[in-house]
Amino acid sequence: MARRKIAFIGAGNVGATCAHLCFLRELGDIVLYDIIEGLPQGKALDMAESAPVLGIDAEVVGSTDIKDIEGADCCVVTSGSPRKPGMSRDDLLKINAKVMSDVGAAIKRHAPNAFVIAVTNPLDAMVTQLKRITGFPKHQIVGQAGVLDSARYRTFLGTELKVSVQSINAMVLGGHGDDMVPVRSYTTVAGVPVERLITAKRLDEIEIRTRNGGGEIVNLMKTSSYYAAGTAVFKMVEAHMLDKKELMPCAAYLEGEYGVKGLFAGVPVVIGAGGVERVVEIQLTPDEKKAFDSSVAHVQELVAAMDKVIAQGN
Ligand code: 2OP
Repeated sequence: MARRKIAFIGAGNVGATCAHLCFLRELGDIVLYDIIEGLPQGKALDMAESAPVLGIDAEVVGSTDIKDIEGADCCVVTSGSPRKPGMSRDDLLKINAKVMSDVGAAIKRHAPNAFVIAVTNPLDAMVTQLKRITGFPKHQIVGQAGVLDSARYRTFLGTELKVSVQSINAMVLGGHGDDMVPVRSYTTVAGVPVERLITAKRLDEIEIRTRNGGGEIVNLMKTSSYYAAGTAVFKMVEAHMLDKKELMPCAAYLEGEYGVKGLFAGVPVVIGAGGVERVVEIQLTPDEKKAFDSSVAHVQELVAAMDKVIAQGN
C-alpha cells in the first residue's frame, strides 16, 4: 500500500516546522509547496538528507507547482502574508483572503478529498474564506488556534505551579484574537481544579499572558511563533492521519452548537480519520459564556470586514 500524502501549502517557518515533525514521525510522504522559487525545494532536500541519520522512510519533495499537491490526504495551509509595519488589518485581510481564494480553488481541484487545516491569520476569517471557496463540508475543514493557545496556557500554568505540563489539562476557546477564552472551570492539574491551586488574581494575570502569547513572541523575535504553532498543527495532522479521535480545541464551523450559526469558532472537537468527527458541547459558566459570545462577535466583525474589503476589491 502506498504511503499517504500530506501537503503543506506555504513552506515558511510554521509549515516547515510542522512538516519536519510529520516527517520525523513518518506520518506520510510530504509535499512542501511555496511560491518562492527554491525555498520549498531547498527545505525538502535538507529534510530528505536527514532521513538516513534517523532511518526515516518517508519521501519529501518541494515544489512551486501547486499541481504537486495532487491527491493529498491532508493539506496544511499556512500561505499568506504576515502583518508588516504600516499595514492595516484590512490590508492583511484583503491580501490573505485573495491568497485563500487561490489556494482554496487549487485544493478543490487537486486534493478534493483532503482534510484541510487552515493556519493563516487572521485565522477565523481565513478558514471561512477557504471553506467558501472549496465548498468542503464542515467535517473536512478546520482552523488551528486552540491547540496553540491552550499549549501556551498550560506552559504558563506548569511554570507557575512547578509541575509537569503533562499534568495540566486546559482548553482555550473562542476566536484566535486577544479576546480568546481560557476556560478556567475545566482547567485541572491531575484532576485538581486549577482554582484550588492558584489564586483568582494570579490566574487573571496568567490568562492575560496567554491571550497575548502570540504578540509576546513577535515582540521578542520580530516574527510569529513557529515552534509552538508548528507543533500545534502537527498534533492535528497526527490525530487525522492516525485516526486518534483526539479531543482538542479547534476552529470548527458551527451550525447551532454553542448558539453560533454559520461561523467558525474555537470549540472542543474530536479529530480523527473523518476530519472533524464531532463538536463536543460543554457547559460554560455564565462569565465564560459571556466571554465566548463576545469573542464570537469579534469573529463575526472580522468576517464582515473581510467581506467588505473583498467587495471593494472587485
Ligand atoms: C500565534 O498566535 C501568530 O497565530 C500565531 O503565535
